[in-house]
Amino acid sequence: MIDLRSDTLTRPTPGMLAAMAAAPVGDDVYAEDPTVNALEARVAALLGHEAGLFCATGSLANLLGVWLLVPPGAEVVCDVRAHIARAEMGAHGALHGVTMRTWDSPDGVADAATIERLITPDAGPYLVSTAAVALENTHNFGGGTVQPFAHLAEVSALCRDAGVGLHLDGARLWNAHVATGVALADYGRLFDTVNVCFSKGLGAPVGSMLVSSRQNIARARVQRKRLGAGWRQAGVLAAAAGYALDHHLPRLGEDHVAAAAFATEVAAATPEAVRLGAVTTNIVVMDTGRQAAAEVVAAASRAGVALSAVGARQVRGVTHQEVSIDEATTAGRLVGAVLAGVPAA
Ligand SMILES: Cc1ncc(COP(=O)(O)O)c(C=O)c1O
Repeated sequence: MIDLRSDTLTRPTPGMLAAMAAAPVGDDVYAEDPTVNALEARVAALLGHEAGLFCATGSLANLLGVWLLVPPGAEVVCDVRAHIARAEMGAHGALHGVTMRTWDSPDGVADAATIERLITPDAGPYLVSTAAVALENTHNFGGGTVQPFAHLAEVSALCRDAGVGLHLDGARLWNAHVATGVALADYGRLFDTVNVCFSKGLGAPVGSMLVSSRQNIARARVQRKRLGAGWRQAGVLAAAAGYALDHHLPRLGEDHVAAAAFATEVAAATPEAVRLGAVTTNIVVMDTGRQAAAEVVAAASRAGVALSAVGARQVRGVTHQEVSIDEATTAGRLVGAVLAGVPAA
């Protein structure tokens, strides 16, 4: 089975496990884990922020990042397919009283003019006030879309002028950085709060980082504990994340090449399923036409490729370090045949 369901499936390599075993550790609730402290400082600096908070998941880092910016009863505005809106189990509302409004855009690309029309800061006693905007880069369900830097800069200026916070779900910001060459700090500085994940294409087993100002991170540390998510010798996990930055960040481009190879094969069989120009990182979202997404997932599985359904008529393939370019090419041929409705050779 060529497993393209997600880049979260990646397992720690022997080198990563050795780094985890060798990590000096301490109690992180006391802020005494040297490996966690070093990773927090390293990633905050990489992203142009003052401080970091190592978290168990990207969902937790997003939850805390949005919480820092949005009081109960106010709203965060985001894309209709944003992970925070679709895939975090309503946590922002259920736990923090945050409401959401969404915009829809092709491939998830954020656009300042659309956002400007939507936001209502200081809306008074009649409408919900917008406290923050949240963007996703790369955009997962949009198809691994890289947000154009000029758009991000415009949205950032808009939010600052309007007095509205700006959060980045940068679970795969690493992929955007590798695809564009834009420095991580140039991305990071546009936002008040940023989440980045080590557990996706970077291949660490666990872990995400929230970065922001020193004051914000101190508040988030308290809220994390309140949610029961303070942890102790988390240095074993921070070591995996540090190893991933050293050894796996430089190889992410290979996943982008593999995704392009996969998409090229799919498009050769079923041109209407995928727009090749839209495939720029490690995620390929495909339209299933008249077939239901679940049927395509089942047929692809019978043919030897695991995909995931991301909409009623959309499926997703994600390349990662456990899939070679040859395997991605083979998978593209098999999935192309499934989408075209012909049995695989
Ligand atoms: C864009 C995006 N944001 C956030 C997350 C949440 O990460 P986690 O699964 O670690 O909670 C994911 C998970 O796949 C994601 O794709």
